Amino acid sequence: MPEIYKVSNSKWDETFSSEVQKEALKMFEQGNLITFPNLAFELTEDEQAFLSTECENPKSKNIFYNRFADRIDTALEGKDKQRLADMIIRFGDHATKLVHALFPDYVDQIEQDMLTYRPLPVEGHDASKNKRDMLLHVDAFSKRPSQGKRIIRFFSNIHPGDMTRDWRLGEPFEDVANTFLPDVTVPILPNSKNLKTRGKLNRKFSLYDHVMLQIHDMMKANPEYQKNCKQMIVKLPPRTSWMVMTDTVPHAVMAGQFCLEQTFFLPVEAMVAPEHSPLKILERLTKMDLIKGRKKTSSHKHNRAAPIGALKRWFKKAI
Ligand code: SIN
Ligand code: FE
Repeated sequence: MPEIYKVSNSKWDETFSSEVQKEALKMFEQGNLITFPNLAFELTEDEQAFLSTECENPKSKNIFYNRFADRIDTALEGKDKQRLADMIIRFGDHATKLVHALFPDYVDQIEQDMLTYRPLPVEGHDASKNKRDMLLHVDAFSKRPSQGKRIIRFFSNIHPGDMTRDWRLGEPFEDVANTFLPDVTVPILPNSKNLKTRGKLNRKFSLYDHVMLQIHDMMKANPEYQKNCKQMIVKLPPRTSWMVMTDTVPHAVMAGQFCLEQTFFLPVEAMVAPEHSPLKILERLTKMDLIKGRKKTSSHKHNRAAPIGALKRWFKKAI
């Protein structure tokens, strides 16, 4: 089960000893939770007004800030909308600086991606919006294929009172893969409209993305697994921060309100121990190249032929 590795800094521009850097990186890549129990993201007096559900995104549980398009999805308008964006951007800058300082090995290759602000209570007010995140899962984005890149997420609980953010954490990724891989079926090509995203994120879906999305969906759709798999609860207090590789560590949020989050992508080659990546684990188990597995030709039918055949062969052996 994941362990908790605590880093004690209270400043966002902290420098770290090489021992802490090395140990934290090792723990992080092995699928543990890095927590910062003394690291609070401070709001200005004006920003306290955003500790309210009124700024919510009417269409989603989260407020998204897309830094490539400089766009924010919130019910707020005008100056308030800009001030909320500024707060979220400041959080992203702090988180990025901290990750660079703690993990200098990643500096050249880690990519800052979307930011979210999560102002809704996980339970209670419009709880249906949060239902899916209350189920244990590993992250795989249906609109942003990672092509094998790691998904890293950095969170701060900014609740003004004493409400912890409660997570469930699950078993190691290899156990998840062994449970669900035999049921991964024909890779379903996502709608062509999903294949293109904005700006720098214009990447296509690889076989790896298909497999990860199916594992993500199967975990959430299996009530028995949700109830009976090995799991633990961790309570993350207000005025603290934490980070985790959410593509390997099964997680679910059960309670909490007011949380900021910065997503990063990291190429597998930038890892010190790439064998812990879901790409390498899945490739070892399937004996396939899951990035090049799908031939790049113009015909859809042809695109799908190679990986399906190879996956089927592997399933036969595995069963
Ligand atoms: C998730 O990443 O699945 C939810 C985490 C959270 O909102 O705390
Ligand atoms: Fe998630």
